[in-house]
Amino acid sequence: MPTHGGRTLAYVYDSGRRGLDELGMAAYALASPANGLDPTAFPSLLRMENDVVAAAAGLLGGTTATVGSVTSGGTESCLLAVLAAREGRRDVAAPAVVLPATAHAAFRKAAHLFGVRAVEVPVDPVTFRADPAAMAAAIDEHTVLVVASAPSYAHGVVDPVGEIAAAAAARGVRMHVDACIGGWVLPYLRRLGAAVPPFDFSVPGVTSISVDLHKYAYCPKGVSVLLHADPALRGGHYFASADWPGYTMLNTTIQSTKSGGPLAAAWAVLRHVGDDGYLRLARDTRAATAALREGIGRIAGLRVLGDPDATLLAFTGEPAGPATGEPDFDLFTVADEMRARGWYVQPQFAHRSSPVNLHLTVTAANRGGEDAFLTDLAAAVRAARAAGPVAVAPELVAAIGALDPDTLTAEQFEGLLAGAGLAGDGALPERMAPVNALLAAAPARLRERVLLEFLGLLYRPGS
Ligand SMILES: Cc1ncc(COP(=O)(O)O)c(C=O)c1O
Repeated sequence: MPTHGGRTLAYVYDSGRRGLDELGMAAYALASPANGLDPTAFPSLLRMENDVVAAAAGLLGGTTATVGSVTSGGTESCLLAVLAAREGRRDVAAPAVVLPATAHAAFRKAAHLFGVRAVEVPVDPVTFRADPAAMAAAIDEHTVLVVASAPSYAHGVVDPVGEIAAAAAARGVRMHVDACIGGWVLPYLRRLGAAVPPFDFSVPGVTSISVDLHKYAYCPKGVSVLLHADPALRGGHYFASADWPGYTMLNTTIQSTKSGGPLAAAWAVLRHVGDDGYLRLARDTRAATAALREGIGRIAGLRVLGDPDATLLAFTGEPAGPATGEPDFDLFTVADEMRARGWYVQPQFAHRSSPVNLHLTVTAANRGGEDAFLTDLAAAVRAARAAGPVAVAPELVAAIGALDPDTLTAEQFEGLLAGAGLAGDGALPERMAPVNALLAAAPARLRERVLLEFLGLLYRPGS
């Protein structure tokens, strides 16, 4: 998939600015041999990290007490927020984290890794925003952390951070704002006049915020910042081991040896683009998002989900009529048809009140290409309509229904692959709609198991 030019609307972030990637990569190359493991041996990395954390704190309402760590990405920042919260409450024997159902999967990973229970709270079924009353009700004596998103990945909406933070603070519980994807663009959108709800350290009760620089700060991949309202909150993810014959291992994050590359690249890109530059990039991204949103609304049969606050869009198919309650085309086929036209849009499966939909991460590089996208999208919907529904053989659906994710065997997996018309070598077919339709028929737990088996097929020498 192309990484530049705005044709891949997930995974990649293109500023569209000539020379920016080259600058980042030059800084990356200079610093990558240096090792962030020892800030006293490589004080330039220390200085750059303090600069980058200060820049993030400055953007996100930090105070003189705000501190942070540079991590390898959003998932690591979220992991460390959970770890620090757990360590901060060692008196809680069975710690739990309260999450809106729309929180990023990174928090489930944190729960899995760190033995913390994830308490998932349903969100508003129409706006997809966290429900503050339900979040407050879910807080109990086990809760070590409450999470909100600014915005959520799936629907691009900002949760009511103020109310949730107040509820957490009232119970003496930490509150993390996951601004991994929005943190570097929402403040600029607000300056451009968008009605961005409060979500940063200016909100009382917010104790940590994650913001990824490899997203809307347009830095080369491998860099995020986890900010804490004060140093005491950070201590729980620091680690020391002096009890062995080698150097005293002192780590701020999960990694120990740490390339200086991503940090130096981010430092250079942040300084080069600067405040004015990010404002311009946000202006372009905002305009592109608005044009795409409006254009999608004009394509018969499509509907944008919720009322997105940032630069992410998710759209679904409208029921063709009251008789069926279903759209008269298959959304997965629309994704395939877009792929055939040179665009990547990301299928999202149904989850609670969120129907099957297609996700768009809009970046500055999409400015100017909106009409081309919308023309192709309208054609893709027409083609999907003409192609008709994607039929999953009833016996395959029945076979899926009979599978138990906890006991899925290699043979059952092979059988499923064969049934789906896939070779056993992990090669993907041209068209993914039949595979996605099959996966959509599986409950989430089974989908996880099946896809993990599939991952195992991909990562084999020679495959
Ligand atoms: C809101 C949010 N949190 C966390 C993450 C995880 O970030 P990463 O993929 O950098 O680990 C993402 C990624 O898109 C995100 O959108």
